[in-house]
Amino acid sequence: MSTDPTTKSLHAFRSLYGREPEILVRAPGRVNLIGDHVDYAGGMVMPIAIELQTVIALARQDGRSTTGSRFHSVDLERTETIDLGTPVPALPRDSKGSFVNYVIGPIEQIRSKGHVIPAMDMTIASSIPMGGGLSSSAALEVGVILAMRTLLGAPSNPLEIALEAQQAEHDHAGTPCGIMDMYVSAAARSGHASLIDCRTNELRHVKMPDEEDAIVLITDTTVRHTLNDGAYSRRREACEKALESMGGSYLSEATVDAIEVSALSDEVARRARHVVEETERVRRFARALERKDLEEAGALMFESHESLASLYEVSCPELDLLVNVAEGWRGKGVHGSRMTGGGFGGCTVTLCRPDAVDGITHAFEKAFEEAFARKPVFHVSRAAAGASILEPEGSASPKV
Ligand code: GLA
Repeated sequence: MSTDPTTKSLHAFRSLYGREPEILVRAPGRVNLIGDHVDYAGGMVMPIAIELQTVIALARQDGRSTTGSRFHSVDLERTETIDLGTPVPALPRDSKGSFVNYVIGPIEQIRSKGHVIPAMDMTIASSIPMGGGLSSSAALEVGVILAMRTLLGAPSNPLEIALEAQQAEHDHAGTPCGIMDMYVSAAARSGHASLIDCRTNELRHVKMPDEEDAIVLITDTTVRHTLNDGAYSRRREACEKALESMGGSYLSEATVDAIEVSALSDEVARRARHVVEETERVRRFARALERKDLEEAGALMFESHESLASLYEVSCPELDLLVNVAEGWRGKGVHGSRMTGGGFGGCTVTLCRPDAVDGITHAFEKAFEEAFARKPVFHVSRAAAGASILEPEGSASPKV
């Protein structure tokens, strides 16, 4: 069977529901090049959308159905049937069908804008590993919003889609995330990174390095994490505490000097320092990419990892080991490497020369297997385009 999520989603739709979908959309996952744990504190981030993606097929029911709306996850081999006649609360997070929270949340956002929600059938297939730190949930939420808005003839722009998806994640998935994941999934431009100022949600597309100079290697530790287990929201609370105590509009605008003379506890001060310094690193990284200074860009990635590991404490031994091995390859093909996303597992992102990929992946694999008796999983990805509507054959058409 095909592993392409477009084919999988379409085939499942036809065989389960016996007709063609009205709408087919794709929404990509993301990897963040630099700027983690700063979006919710008004910092700067610089993710790219990746080629791994989620594809959603959708059609209204014909009005005869009394069974409710059907949502089928091809990857989980599971269908949930839900009556959308009235607002639907989140399912308990540990229940088997809880994937549907990432569908219901977006639908409830659309209902809250005054739209009438019809009974519908949907299939979902994805090449983004679930819980792997590559924003499988954001892609699903963004995809559902784009699909629903298209179905209802209620177009929207990428920022509005991202804001609705973010609210859906807060309300139905229980993670008080920032806007980064959804925004890049909705708005990215192919071949470019998205430089986002999370104070104003201003987004600038910054051209990625030429492929003969640098490619993006994603290394998945396969350590799975959930961001709704409390550790993520505790980090966010520390930032809120720091802002409350120091004053101002955004923690990202504080200075290291002000943090040093503040009355913050040692732990909160370390979190705040990370936010301030990481935001500055993102600005420097963007400038370095623009002048093609990959050595400087790479050095900033290593610094970012160090800060996330020691000041913010969101790394883990598997991530640290991979970044450590990458350090050994500096000047031999690796420009920079760091953990990416929420942390506590998930992936590292490495910017490296294409001719060095084989050597680097081999070195990662060897060290990783020695330490943890299993292999990491690799993905090389170009910077992909944000969510779009597909024709049933799979060809992209302009966004709404
Ligand atoms: C998760 C969240 C994002 C962001 C990152 C860390 O991916 O969803 O909003 O906070 O963690 O940078």
